[in-house]
Amino acid sequence: MSNVPIPEGLKEILLGFTIEVIRNHPRNICDFALQYFAELKNNESKVKGQKVKFNNEAMQIGSEDEDEEFVAPVINRFARRVSVCAESYDPDNEEESREPMVIHFKTDEQRQRLLEACKYIVLFKSLEQDEFFRVLDAMFERPVAAGEHIIEQHEDGDNFYVIQSGIYDVHVMDNGITRLVGTYDNHGSFGELALMYNTPRATTIIARTSGALWCLDRQTFRRIIVKNNAKKRKMYDDFIQTVPLLSSLETYERMKVVDVLVPRQYTDGQQIIAEGESADDFYIVESGQVRITIRRPTQQEGEMYEVEIATCTRGQYFGELALVTNKPRAASAYAVGNVKCLVMDVMAFERLLGPCMEIMKRNIRLWNLEVKIEPVGAVDKCLRSL
Ligand code: CMP
Repeated sequence: MSNVPIPEGLKEILLGFTIEVIRNHPRNICDFALQYFAELKNNESKVKGQKVKFNNEAMQIGSEDEDEEFVAPVINRFARRVSVCAESYDPDNEEESREPMVIHFKTDEQRQRLLEACKYIVLFKSLEQDEFFRVLDAMFERPVAAGEHIIEQHEDGDNFYVIQSGIYDVHVMDNGITRLVGTYDNHGSFGELALMYNTPRATTIIARTSGALWCLDRQTFRRIIVKNNAKKRKMYDDFIQTVPLLSSLETYERMKVVDVLVPRQYTDGQQIIAEGESADDFYIVESGQVRITIRRPTQQEGEMYEVEIATCTRGQYFGELALVTNKPRAASAYAVGNVKCLVMDVMAFERLLGPCMEIMKRNIRLWNLEVKIEPVGAVDKCLRSL
C-alpha cells in the first residue's frame, strides 16, 4: 500500500469530515456525510476560486500546492485569544477580501436555529444577502455552563456572540466596585465593541444559567461587519452631522451612533409606534414626515380619539420618551407618505446617547409647552417625573 499515491487533498477532506462527525455526533453518519459533502461542494462553487478555510488557529494542514491549500477544522475552537494586535481595517484593501473564508459546517437543524437567533441582530440587518450568509457560514455553536465567564472586562476581543439560549449578566468594574449594568435574557448579542473599535472588552459577561451561544471570530467580524459599517458611515455621516440632537457628540461618538443605526421604511399611514406598548427602539427621521398622536377620551364613556400633538421631519427624532422614562409608549407615531427612519435599539440608546440625555429631557419639556395641549395619562405622568 505504501506505494499507492494518495490523491491530493484526500487526507484533508477526510480529516475535516471526521472532525465534524466527532463534533456533531450525528445520528446517521451517511446522511451527515451527504450533507457535509454537498455543502462542501456548494461552498467550493460559491467562492469561485477563493480558498475555503474550514476554520482557524489550532490546526492547519498545509499543502504542497498553494492553490490547492486546504485548511482543516480547528479542534480547540473555544480557546480564548490571549492577545490581539490592534489591526486597523482598510475596507478598500483587496488583499484583505481575498483572505480565505471561515466555514463551520452545520446541520440543517443548527442552521435553522442560527437563522432564527440572528433574525433581529442589528449589526446583521444592513448586510447584503451574500455577506449575511458568509457570516452564518463562519459562526459556530458553543455550549455554555452556568457561571461561565464569556467575556472578561479589559481583555482583548476574540469573538462576537449571538445568544441561542441562556441568561447572561453584564458587569462593569469601576474603581474596584463591580456593578451589574444589564442582563440578556435568551436573545440578543454582545461582544461587538472590542472588535469594532479595537478596544479592550468594556464589560464582564457571566452566564447566569446554562445555555448556548453562536460565535463569530474576530477576523470574519472585521472583514464583513466592520467593512459594511465603513460603507454605512460614508452613506450616513453627512446626514448625521445635521441632526441637532447629536451635535454635542464628538466625531467618534457620532460614528458609533451610525454603526448601530438600522434603516427602516414605512408607507403612508403605517403605524411606527403604538401608544401603551413597551418600548425598545429610538427613531431619527431620515426622510418624510411622522405624525405623533395621543389618545384622549371623547364625551362618550370608554371611547377615545387620537389628537395630533407633533410632527417630525428630516433630522428630528422620536421614541425617546419611553426610553428615557422607562415607561410604556406615551404616544403613537404614524408615517405621512413614505418615510425612512434610522432606528437604534434601547441598549445602544442607553450606551451611546447618554451625553444627549439632558438635551432630550429639555426638549421633552419644551415640546410640551410648544404644543399647548394639556397632555393626559401617561404623557403627563412621564413629564412630571422628569
Ligand atoms: P465588548 O466591549 O466587545 O465586550 C463586552 C460587551 O458587553 C460589549 O462589547 C457590549 O456588547 C456589551 N455591553 C452590554 N451592555 C454594555 C454597556 N452598558 N456598556 C458597554 N458594553 C456593554
